[in-house]
Amino acid sequence: MKLEVDRTRLSSEIEALASISDAESPAVTRIVFTPTDLRARAWLTARSEEAGLALRQDAIGNTFARWAGSDGKAPAVGTGSHMDAIPNAGKYDGVVGVLGGLEAIRALQRSGFRPKHPVELLVFTAEEPTRFGIGCLGSRLLSGSLSPEAARRLKDGDGESIDEVRGKAGMRGELEDVRLPIGYYKAFVELHIEQGPLLERQGVPLGIVTNIAAPASLRISVGGAGGHAGGVLMPDRRDALCAAAELILAVESAARSSGAVDTVATVGICEVFPGAVNSIPSRVRLSVDIRDTDLERRDSVMRATENASQSISAKRGVTIHTDLLNADAPANCAFAVVEALSRSCKKHEQKFLPMVSRAYHDSLFMARIAPAGMLFIPCRNGYSHRPDEYASPEDIARGTLVLAETLATLSA
Ligand code: GLV
Ligand code: MN
Ligand code: MN
Repeated sequence: MKLEVDRTRLSSEIEALASISDAESPAVTRIVFTPTDLRARAWLTARSEEAGLALRQDAIGNTFARWAGSDGKAPAVGTGSHMDAIPNAGKYDGVVGVLGGLEAIRALQRSGFRPKHPVELLVFTAEEPTRFGIGCLGSRLLSGSLSPEAARRLKDGDGESIDEVRGKAGMRGELEDVRLPIGYYKAFVELHIEQGPLLERQGVPLGIVTNIAAPASLRISVGGAGGHAGGVLMPDRRDALCAAAELILAVESAARSSGAVDTVATVGICEVFPGAVNSIPSRVRLSVDIRDTDLERRDSVMRATENASQSISAKRGVTIHTDLLNADAPANCAFAVVEALSRSCKKHEQKFLPMVSRAYHDSLFMARIAPAGMLFIPCRNGYSHRPDEYASPEDIARGTLVLAETLATLSA
């Protein structure tokens, strides 16, 4: 089997997909179920059909593109990632795993390899939490980690429910039918950019993920008293933004003082109401994202956040209400997939680093229903979730080659 990745075509497909965006180039914004997301899906469907793959879409819009195996009863080997992109993102997050996965399948087809197990490209819906506040919507439903009832209660920023939004986007069927049976996949492998600087710093071209850190997210509403910025004297104030500012620093301090570099916490959204220069903020909405490889440490930052909320609320006379959006356990990658990836790297004489994924991925949830693993490639300066995110065509092609070899091993 002579495996060759078509680097030129893969690079031009990455550029083509990046041009389907709601942000001006080089930024990419592609929020789930917007007309732009639907155009990207149609574009990918056409590419998958060109490759002779059989397409299926479930009720939440997860898309499966299958290359049949010689054994009609054998479970599939899956690969894939996501195409949605947060506001002002780059071109590579998720996309490398989708288009690299597609090119890996095409490279295997060109090589003359014929799989016993079907090889399936899986494009997950809404890995990013932008629209519904919770990440990995598609893979949570696929793995039974989010119940259809809980999914139906989610609303977007305009108050529209998942069922309304997916219906308008043309997704048909019942959320109850999204969950995959255990044993559907023999293995699942996701190619992704590292989203951190370690591979580049160490000059190693590939990372094999051994475990994925545990993410949690909270939505916090602070309620104070608004009023005239000139008329209300300082002793009489109950400024919601000042209380929120204290809370943001308390979150930062809890993460910094955890004793481990693996603890990270971010307040990425701060919405101030009414948002007028001469009006005291009466309401603030914060998003808090807390992660750690260690569940107990992650949970202790969550407890510290709750304690800080209570004391700031009492001290400043404001209300602080916390909604827990998700608090997920970490995942371990499956030995069989890690082994297959390592062997593929060795076969192609590529150095690799065993590593932790600090970002979450759909593989966090796929690991609950299938042996799962991930392959990382470097990204410049470790930048991700920003327009200057960059992975070189050479690194993408190398990752795709090793992915193809791994899919061959697992599907033979
Ligand atoms: C995924 O995009 C993450 O935030 O880790
Ligand atoms: Mn992302
Ligand atoms: Mn991603």
